[in-house]
Amino acid sequence: MVTRRSLLGAALATTGAGLFTGAALTPLLAAGGARAAGAAPAAPAVEPFRVPLPLPPVLAPLSTSGGTDTYAITLRRTRKEILPGLQTEVLTYNGHFPGPTIRARSGRPVVVRHRNALDMPASVHLHGASVPPESDGAPMDTFAPGTTRTYTYPNRQPHASLWYHDHAHHMESEHVYRGLSGSYLLTDGTEQALPLPSGAYDIPIALRDARFDEAGQLVYVMDDALGRTTLLANGKPYPYLEVAARKYRFRLLNSSNLRFFRLRLADGGEITQIGSDGGLLPRPHTTDALWLSPAERADVVIDFSRYPVGTKLVLENTVGPGTPEQTGHVLRFDVVRTASDPSRVPSVLRTLPPLPAATGARTVELRMDEDGGAAPKGYIDGKVYDPDRVDTVVRHGSSEIWTITNPNTVMPHNFHLHLVQFRVLERNGQAPDPSESGLKDTVRLLPGETVKVQATFDTYRGTYVYHCHLLDHSAMGMMAQLRIN
Ligand code: C2O
Ligand code: CU
Ligand code: CU
Repeated sequence: MVTRRSLLGAALATTGAGLFTGAALTPLLAAGGARAAGAAPAAPAVEPFRVPLPLPPVLAPLSTSGGTDTYAITLRRTRKEILPGLQTEVLTYNGHFPGPTIRARSGRPVVVRHRNALDMPASVHLHGASVPPESDGAPMDTFAPGTTRTYTYPNRQPHASLWYHDHAHHMESEHVYRGLSGSYLLTDGTEQALPLPSGAYDIPIALRDARFDEAGQLVYVMDDALGRTTLLANGKPYPYLEVAARKYRFRLLNSSNLRFFRLRLADGGEITQIGSDGGLLPRPHTTDALWLSPAERADVVIDFSRYPVGTKLVLENTVGPGTPEQTGHVLRFDVVRTASDPSRVPSVLRTLPPLPAATGARTVELRMDEDGGAAPKGYIDGKVYDPDRVDTVVRHGSSEIWTITNPNTVMPHNFHLHLVQFRVLERNGQAPDPSESGLKDTVRLLPGETVKVQATFDTYRGTYVYHCHLLDHSAMGMMAQLRIN
């Protein structure tokens, strides 16, 4: 009998050191250390790099009149070929897995009419967006099967790679796992003035994991970090992407419920990170590896001109759980042709407004039962989510420093605040890495870590949630409410 405790330990036990430096952060999330004990993978083994990376379709508006783009989406159950030769039942926006991409522009509102053709309530949240509370897709603000709900997104914020996903109380984790997520790419003049790779060379890639049974059906078990060992990119397992020998921009999103990625190119080659959750970084950051915790985004440029045509370059993941064959590779770039390349990554990408003087400070503690009990709960500041309780009240116009800690010893978490793009001031007492120098709405907290962020509440008033974005954890109660008065 495998206890929960040993599962967690196995999931996070380390086999190697030096993946990252910083605080005393053992155990790490190690690759290869965690064969799913007691949960033999039932899914048919998938041969990697056999299917092309699909691109989710860009949704066409129903209307663009009156300065507003209006879209219609139907939430419905359907079947998709995810694993070769098998049909998997999924929950979708408009029949796509993942959902269609919405392209929006700052200053131009978007209205999305969602019709719920599922057999359960839904709520649609636009992650990372500054929206009034009635359009935020709050956990209790659901719409019933057979009904329609209209969300209005003012887009009064700078460019950012956002995403939309289900947020129905206690069901969000299963709904998102079964397919309810999609990209929402908000652009503006600042971004468009830059000579970055664009058009066919600007590709959104949503990465996630999944567990399949022998019939190819998705298996959802709460907190099943060890079972979900098939990786999907834009809904397909370990795809390949044919690229030209030039620069590409990839908008990476981790849409997993629990999995952290630590991504690198197999040859250790350079990745230029140009953006994070809330749009472009002030300056590009060159690295050979990047973290992506659930819901985080990384906007990167890879220059394939340094590779001869014929090169096959694997994008690897160096943290578990999962064996290297299961989760050590994500997708493969196949360099198939040369191409001219007028694009460039400028040394200055944007100017962020200076941080205002802080008007207050608070602490937030993220914790989950790690003691092996049958029905573990998640807590923020010792409390399980209660939709009837407001946990934090802030004054409109204030700018606060929040010190967030994860005192758990094996369980990684992260922290997501609705409505606000915040700044990371410190990670474990040190200045953050340049990858966290931009605007963020989600920040990782490995076991034992402490992160200090500054958030300014100067847009909408009302009640919003903040939570761990390991969605199985928020469904276990790791969520709280903030009211901006
Ligand atoms: Cu991605 Cu509460 O959200
Ligand atoms: Cu959100
Ligand atoms: Cu968590």
